[in-house]
Amino acid sequence: MPAHYQIEGSTSAAISASVEGGIRSGTLAPGDALPAVRALATGLAVSPATVARAYQELRQRGLVVTAGRHGTRVRPRPPVAARRAGLLPPPLPGARDLSTGQPDPRLLPPLGPHLAALAAEIGPPTGYAAAAVVPDLADAARERLAADGVPAAEITVSGGALDGIERLLAAHLRPGDAVAVEDPGWANLLDLVAALGLRAIGVPVDDEGPTEPGVRAALAAGARALIVTSRAQNPTGAAVSADRAEALRALLAGRSDLLLIEDDHAAELARVPLRPLAGATPTWAFVRSVSKPYGPDLRLAVLAGDEATVARVAGRARVGAGWVSTVLQRLVLALWRDPATADLVHRAGESYERRRHGLVEALRAHGLPAHGRTGINVWVPVPDETVVVTALRDAGWSVAPGALNRIAAGPGIRITVSSLDEADLAPLAAAAARATQPTAPFGFTA
Ligand SMILES: Cc1ncc(COP(=O)(O)O)c(C=O)c1O
Repeated sequence: MPAHYQIEGSTSAAISASVEGGIRSGTLAPGDALPAVRALATGLAVSPATVARAYQELRQRGLVVTAGRHGTRVRPRPPVAARRAGLLPPPLPGARDLSTGQPDPRLLPPLGPHLAALAAEIGPPTGYAAAAVVPDLADAARERLAADGVPAAEITVSGGALDGIERLLAAHLRPGDAVAVEDPGWANLLDLVAALGLRAIGVPVDDEGPTEPGVRAALAAGARALIVTSRAQNPTGAAVSADRAEALRALLAGRSDLLLIEDDHAAELARVPLRPLAGATPTWAFVRSVSKPYGPDLRLAVLAGDEATVARVAGRARVGAGWVSTVLQRLVLALWRDPATADLVHRAGESYERRRHGLVEALRAHGLPAHGRTGINVWVPVPDETVVVTALRDAGWSVAPGALNRIAAGPGIRITVSSLDEADLAPLAAAAARATQPTAPFGFTA
């Protein structure tokens, strides 16, 4: 912990408020260690139980994480706005930023012409009474999902995949409940699970999706929900294969105590067929975001599921945020209906495919066991993330440390291919190989 931040308070509420204040002001940064319970209790002249209660409350709200011998630390992205962000070292000026996990802005369809067309036909303002899921959008989504084997009689719309997942978890689970998530997995999802006061159980993932023994173990450990990324798993690029889908469907069949959530964020960008699990359990939802193919700022996902689950999500939204703006819904519908946009998205998918495959091959040629079956990221297991991230940064490449994505999985780095050109692949792979090599002792020459 930085020596200049003094945690204060004589009650557990005051101590946790003091830690939260430190995070808010940026003085306590993501990853900073908090003092040991006994040491802080002595310093504040309170009982260890008081400090332990404060830490527990912060943990339940997802602000801190306690990891055995490593003690209690501020989470990488605690759910309070802070001025300093992330575990990522700031990219060096001039370094190529491959750490973002963002789609390639050069490949997102232009929104201007669709906004102009929408402006011309927008009609009278939509008020509270008339706002809902736009029926044509629901029909188009149903058709698209049905073509991929997802039964979508019941459907609603959320403000993106993560918003949909948050609403699903809140509708079915209570703080303290366990959620099975892929490990390594999507960092934002791990942060959300913590912020909801839920417990994440890591499920190992290979190129074909979450492993069957991993899911089995998570169920045995009491998981109340399971979240599976259908394709373009973040960070490994895994996609659920036909065989894995069959094995998982058999394992999950009839589990009435489990909420099954599928996240198909790659959607139209994916170049492998969808192998859905939808409907394997009585309580299920399938979420498809428009962020990756059409742009994250659209903030829209369609959410299909069993009747009770969709009704809970839609009903809860109605008494809260209300609905996703019909202006956005109509814009997405226009994008879906436009053949030129479909062509752009198709070509974007092929471009990611070429660059990702190219990078995986180049890394493997250097002996690095890279993964990236689908999507926009390549995952490279490495012995020491900090060493490799720092060495690559010094060589002009900023990549993401896997610490943001991991529960118990081994270390790795995530490389987003969005800003790479094909000419970059060989020099990047060579730099990654150098960065993972143990440094020769000083003065040693072969
Ligand atoms: C696994 C996964 N799901 C979903 C998303 C997109 O989420 P949203 O629709 O909230 O933008 C991402 C974006 O990186 C992702 O990595």
